Amino acid sequence: MAKKIFAKDVKKYLGKEVTLQGWVRNYRKSSSKLRFIIFRDGTGEIQAIAWKPDLGEEKFERVKALTLESSIIISGIPKKHPKNEGEYELQLTDIEIVHLCEDYPIGKKEHGVDFLLSNRHLWLRSSKQNALMKIRHTVYFAICEYLNKNGFFRFDSPILTPNACEGTTTLFEVPYFDQGMAYLSQSGQLYLEAGIMSLGRVYDFGPVFRAEKSKTRKHLTEFWMMDAEAAYVEHKENMKIQEKLIRFVLKAVLKNNLLDLTTLERDIDQLKKADAPFTIMTYEKMVTTLQKKGIQIRYGDDMGAPEEEALAEGSDVPIFIEKWPKNIKPFYMKVDRKDPKLSLGSDLIAPEGFGEIIGGSQREDDYYILKERMEDDNIPMEEYQWYLELRKYGSVPHSGFGVGLERLIGWLSGVRHIREAIPFPRMLYRIYP
Ligand code: 4AD
Ligand code: MG
Repeated sequence: MAKKIFAKDVKKYLGKEVTLQGWVRNYRKSSSKLRFIIFRDGTGEIQAIAWKPDLGEEKFERVKALTLESSIIISGIPKKHPKNEGEYELQLTDIEIVHLCEDYPIGKKEHGVDFLLSNRHLWLRSSKQNALMKIRHTVYFAICEYLNKNGFFRFDSPILTPNACEGTTTLFEVPYFDQGMAYLSQSGQLYLEAGIMSLGRVYDFGPVFRAEKSKTRKHLTEFWMMDAEAAYVEHKENMKIQEKLIRFVLKAVLKNNLLDLTTLERDIDQLKKADAPFTIMTYEKMVTTLQKKGIQIRYGDDMGAPEEEALAEGSDVPIFIEKWPKNIKPFYMKVDRKDPKLSLGSDLIAPEGFGEIIGGSQREDDYYILKERMEDDNIPMEEYQWYLELRKYGSVPHSGFGVGLERLIGWLSGVRHIREAIPFPRMLYRIYP
């Protein structure tokens, strides 16, 4: 029997018979004796040539019976494509139909996005969705690789929590036995702050939840976040770590996913330009810059999508917005000792209008300042006692940040709506399939 291989590896087997297992992406009739099958197996695609005189009557009949997305096992001899440089074909020698697919609902005609989302379990097979999932794979592992190599330990934070990390307005509630309500985690940050006191540098990576009644293309109710936290790292160094991480991930995608970026019609030259020093801009400067561009924003306002897009215009690299008015940022951010109206937080805004991809800050490490801020914000002190206590027993300056995985993938792959950056998106009006 011929050796079983993956489609991505055919070029290593030129002239040798091989077997591949996968599905029919497409097929084409050329004449009564000649057919083409576009075969896919997840790793790649290859055109198989079915020539009746070589295959024989019975096997050629099987080829004629093929339908979109039928599962097949094929054997053949790989060779170079006669015209297209760098492409390969398979001269078919055998075919087995594993399952004949009937009436595959996604065809060549344009489908509305609602239809595609309802058929997400099938839509995932399309070339673009396949490319996106491969980019997601690269981004996920590149983030872990960078952190693992730079002294961060993986430290898993809980998903069921008794308290909020990012404000109480976006919590999903879960009845928790006789202990009242528990909440699905919005970010593992607070727990990571306990982790660093044991391990120095830690990160978590998993799904987080926000009951956001937001329908924008940048919001999911369940998304993946990588929270990183480091002891003895202050605000400026925190941004340095983020920049190095993002540029590492960018390079990994450019190295491993060029074909996928091409499938997605990503402007690759534009993307490459982002691998250069990132801009750092104060919140105050951001406000005046936007005002000069004619955007209606006042000092003290938060940034929304229009502001993020206008700011990114004309910048090839991501932009950090740092030193925010403390009253529009969470209680845990450290107050700028040089200007107590400000907190040492930073948001990283992606180029090309893809919006905020990271939120981070130095954390308040002074017991009394934090306690006062929590009281001012009406935070239920009993539930956060443990968090406050971290400032009582060997407190250290420390910082961290959270990367929104789907936002990052959205920018790198050039996909406008982040619902395509996760296998099964959860949104305000969608939980199926
Ligand atoms: O800016 P956020 O809310 O920051 C935190 O949660 C911090 N506790 C993180 C930390 O310091 N460890 O969220 C972090 C990132 C955002 O920059 C954005 O990329 C993404 O998470 N994000 C969302 N992604 C998709 N859908 C949503 N609803 C999102 N909300 C935030
Ligand atoms: Mg944020």
